[in-house]
Amino acid sequence: MQENFSLKPFNTFGVEAKAKYFIEVNSVDELIETLKHAHSQTLPLLFLGGGSNILLTKDFDGLAIKLNLKGISEKALNENEVLVTAKAGENWHEFVMSCLNKNYGGLENLSLIPGNVGTSPMQNVGAYGTEIKDIFVDCKVLNLETLEIETFNLEKCRFGYRDSIFKQKGKGKYVILEVSFKLTSKIHSIKTEYGAIKSELENLGITNPTIQDISKAVINIRQSKLPDPKEIGNAGSFFKNPTIPLAHFENLKEQFPNIQGYPNENFVKVPAGWLIEQCGWKGKQIGNVASHKLQSLVIINATGNATGKEIFDFSTLIIDSVKEKFGIELDREVNIL
Ligand code: EPU
Repeated sequence: MQENFSLKPFNTFGVEAKAKYFIEVNSVDELIETLKHAHSQTLPLLFLGGGSNILLTKDFDGLAIKLNLKGISEKALNENEVLVTAKAGENWHEFVMSCLNKNYGGLENLSLIPGNVGTSPMQNVGAYGTEIKDIFVDCKVLNLETLEIETFNLEKCRFGYRDSIFKQKGKGKYVILEVSFKLTSKIHSIKTEYGAIKSELENLGITNPTIQDISKAVINIRQSKLPDPKEIGNAGSFFKNPTIPLAHFENLKEQFPNIQGYPNENFVKVPAGWLIEQCGWKGKQIGNVASHKLQSLVIINATGNATGKEIFDFSTLIIDSVKEKFGIELDREVNIL
């Protein structure tokens, strides 16, 4: 266990914040030992995965635990389906690539998402027409109170848009240890309905795409507009796309004929990136923080010297101006600490 430990390398925003104590655990037994110790000291806990969805606004006066559980295993279910299980500390994109190398389908639309496997169920990660709930079978978690291992199936996880039980009722109660997905091994279902994928495949001159082609298209799209956290600190989309009542959307449509929306019964999901851009934030920098010039939904540590507090304050300015112009309250997608 280390003391006064800098978490800068463990959050993709690259902000400085210190943990009073820090430990890296490589197995479930080590994790349980650590938790027993933490319980006896009544230390607050912070679990670190890939650090790609967290904003540290202050030092952490407790024990930060970096989950380093590694390993991928698989079991054929039938002629066309395989159950692949990855431990929480596996890097998400490397996991996706290892499945694609074996020609296992289902994860290709989720290529290049930053973070680790263990945090993917927390917010039901999603991109380009797929969410992990589409291929999720179950996850094993450690109950922090009983220190027993439990299994959460699809239903128990209560997945929603960027949401799950782990962000709601189960918040702070479990650590995800491993996740299992059902993937296809021979006949794949190809998802190209997301507009940007279609046009990227056209650019690549591909008419009959394989799962590897879809992955390539998604990687190209992401690289063309999302900043690489290794180069510019960021945590992907900072806000969720808001869902507003249809009547509110129709009012806005009269005032802003270009507004886009994806209707779902009496509600409409509106792209937050568009709202933020309309408020003049795209590419705008204040001090060390900016809204990305190609995707205004992504807030960046523009100089590399931003503090978490500065990033948080910048996000509040965005929320205020979107509220004022459109009457819509944006929700932060990133976990604030
Ligand atoms: N848009 C603008 N201006 C902007 C950004 C976007 O007008 O500055 C418009 C685009 O033109 C497009 C619409 O907004 O018509 C949607 O944009 P995009 O396809 O880039 O997707 P998004 O809704 O901004 C969501 C996810 C991303 C995911 C993409 C692709 C959320 C909060 N974000 O972004 O997820 O990669 O769709 O599926 O749902 C993440 O969660 O970190 C993330 C990157």
